[in-house]
Amino acid sequence: MLIKTAEFIKSSPDLRACPAGGLPEFAFIGRSNVGKSSLINMLTGRPALAKTSSTPGKTRHINHFLVDGDWFLVDLPGYGYARVSKGQREAFHRATLEYLARRESLYCVFTLIDIRLTPQRVDIQFLNWLGEHEIPVTILFTKSDKISEAETNRNIRGFCSKLLEFWEEMPRYIVTSSVKKQGRDEVIDFIESCLKNTKKD
Ligand code: GTP
Ligand code: MG
Repeated sequence: MLIKTAEFIKSSPDLRACPAGGLPEFAFIGRSNVGKSSLINMLTGRPALAKTSSTPGKTRHINHFLVDGDWFLVDLPGYGYARVSKGQREAFHRATLEYLARRESLYCVFTLIDIRLTPQRVDIQFLNWLGEHEIPVTILFTKSDKISEAETNRNIRGFCSKLLEFWEEMPRYIVTSSVKKQGRDEVIDFIESCLKNTKKD
């Protein structure tokens, strides 16, 4: 699938403020600084579409980007170590969880995991929360350009074995790098298949 247009539509503090209309949407979540906004820019081929920063906590609201006038990519605030007050962090987090649990047009949540790290408790807990709420999830390992292929494979095995302590089978996962544009076709093909499947219904 070729992406022809991608435009910022709205930054919403909570679910109630999100765009109406029910177009399919695909959301990006993960720890602050994991690379959510960069990945949206890589997928759309628009380097300045979503705001990125080397300082964690850049994205603070639910940001809708309309692709080809037909579906949304949604950039969410990170969980974890954003440099904002505890009260603010809890408010973002509450709004994000409500959006994820109740947004009817949400087709899939891409949960981003930094491939360089050992399994982080906050990521496992978050994936378990998605599983408990039966929210469709695909894992995107990020920043693969920063380590070797051997280390990438070792870290994926480590992550899978940790998650499988809680899950019966691994959710779909894709290895990505926004710098090298790795994983782009796989993610876009997956989105395309989701869009096609539901159009037939
Ligand atoms: P918050 O909005 O703060 O939660 O962060 P985010 O998850 O949206 O991360 P963002 O896309 O802003 O990227 C954080 C930092 O990681 C930036 O300095 C990016 O340039 C860098 N980065 C993101 N993706 C990659 C990648 O694939 N490879 C490398 N080497 N750096 C990356
Ligand atoms: Mg961001």
